[in-house]
Amino acid sequence: SKKGFIFDLDGVIVDTAKYHFLAWRKLANSLGIDFTEVQNEQLKGVSRVKSLEKILNWGNKEVSQGEFNRLMAEKNEDYLSYIYKMDASEILPDVHRVLNLLKEHHQGIALGSASKNAKLILEKVNLLDYFEVVVDGNSVTKAKPDPEVFLNAANALEIKPDNCIVFEDAVAGVEAANAAQMISIGIGSKNVLSHANFVFKDFTEISNDFILQLINQ
Ligand code: BG6
Ligand code: MG
Repeated sequence: SKKGFIFDLDGVIVDTAKYHFLAWRKLANSLGIDFTEVQNEQLKGVSRVKSLEKILNWGNKEVSQGEFNRLMAEKNEDYLSYIYKMDASEILPDVHRVLNLLKEHHQGIALGSASKNAKLILEKVNLLDYFEVVVDGNSVTKAKPDPEVFLNAANALEIKPDNCIVFEDAVAGVEAANAAQMISIGIGSKNVLSHANFVFKDFTEISNDFILQLINQ
């Protein structure tokens, strides 16, 4: 039967966390705030606004609304300088195989991302054509762990939430999928993503049989 397969973008399809890290670190350092990889981990799946709030908090800094917006724009401009250089070689291992298998079996394929840069990134890595539906940070009002992003994707695919499967690398994203009554598949560590229905290190661990079982169940 036709199921809806909803993919998070950052950390699932491409590893953009390293570019977010470079851009946030540059911004934080320019404000005299330290920023480590450990802190960057805590920004996975977190919106741009919430990320800057956290960084300013870590540095005990308060800024005006105008300055806040200027800092977000500055970070994004720097982030985009890395994004513009991306190409298909940055697609994570076996993502193509899984997308092709889903296409072959005429499954619904959607993106469910918090990023406002999602469409641009899919274009850069040449994957936009796979996605029937793209729900991203421009169309969502409530951030993950709220289920809105995934419910909107299911709605646009015209597939019931309990017939949808979500691939997510962030704890908040797994919570959002669970709250939407969807099957959650964590991509990453079992310890971190303990609330997911299934967890795999990456797509190389996900067999075609496993995908076919999801389609046929
Ligand atoms: C999420 C990332 O997918 O998108 C977060 O995991 C990021 O790190 C968020 O902050 C928003 O992204 P953007 O591209 O709109 O700044
Ligand atoms: Mg992610």
